[in-house]
Amino acid sequence: MINKLNKIAKDTNIFLKDFINKQKNSKLILAMKYGLFPGGKKIRSKILIDIGSMMSIDYKTLIAIGAAVECIHAYTLIHDDLPCMDDDKIRRGKPSTHIKFGESTAILAGNSLQTMACEILTSSKLKIGDKIKIELIKKLSECSGHLGVAGGQYLDLSYEKRKVSKKKIIEMEIKKTGKLFSFCCVAPAIIKKKDNQEIKFFEDLGSKIGLLFQIADDLIDFHGNSKSAGKQTGKDQKKGKATLISLMGYTNAVKYCDRIIIDTNKTLKKYGSKSKNIKDTLEYILKRDR
Ligand code: IPE
Ligand code: IPE
Ligand code: MG
Ligand code: MG
Ligand code: MG
Repeated sequence: MINKLNKIAKDTNIFLKDFINKQKNSKLILAMKYGLFPGGKKIRSKILIDIGSMMSIDYKTLIAIGAAVECIHAYTLIHDDLPCMDDDKIRRGKPSTHIKFGESTAILAGNSLQTMACEILTSSKLKIGDKIKIELIKKLSECSGHLGVAGGQYLDLSYEKRKVSKKKIIEMEIKKTGKLFSFCCVAPAIIKKKDNQEIKFFEDLGSKIGLLFQIADDLIDFHGNSKSAGKQTGKDQKKGKATLISLMGYTNAVKYCDRIIIDTNKTLKKYGSKSKNIKDTLEYILKRDR
């Protein structure tokens, strides 16, 4: 699993470096590259490839779409670390982008990474039909905006130091993290022109995987080591973040994750041995230390 993930990370970085290097230079490029490289597990690309290869979609196509997702993801991390959000000074084992380049540059680099995702998805190098490209951009926009990551980040910040119900915490975590995973699971189904029922199946699958990923991130923040995590841990408690751990305790949060994995594996049964890679990824998500 780790070897596959590392290979995907390497190929995604090669794609992104090549894409950026073919563009004209600008004053923001340095900060954008800093937010993108190095580091980053590229777990979203891995999921896209796990699901995409179940549907026999070409690896190169999946790497390009994954690169677009990783641009959105890097932008959200740059903004997430700003003083007006989580105020974090270390990311991926180095000073956060705003510490290195200043806040305004970090905001603008984040904005530019977000739009770069659309440039990648409309690029002629991506060998899929225009209609599908438009559908992918539509879905990625939905997943990133007020009904997705941005909306979830708003809720995350507004729930600080408040007692929040389990239902609301889950809704917030699905929006801020789950929706981008949802895109990764549904993009292959969009390319294969699956019917609405299957589209919904893969969207829900992604939300569940993303929720698992965020709870596992919260577990790392709770007990994890800053050095291996590459970011300061123990911050959620200090900030009074509403998490399942703050609500139900560490052990119950782990049990909740175990249940997500069991449920997800059940829904994947119909794909038989084709679902092995995605199942391995689920295990990794809960066991990881960064
Ligand atoms: C961190 O995401 C932010 C969350 C959504 C929990 P990742 O853990 O995927 O960050 P990188 O890309 O590997 O650094
Ligand atoms: C971030 O969640 C989710 C995003 C959409 C960026 P966290 O705030 O828990 O992520 P880390 O722990 O800073 O990576
Ligand atoms: Mg945050
Ligand atoms: Mg944060
Ligand atoms: Mg966290």
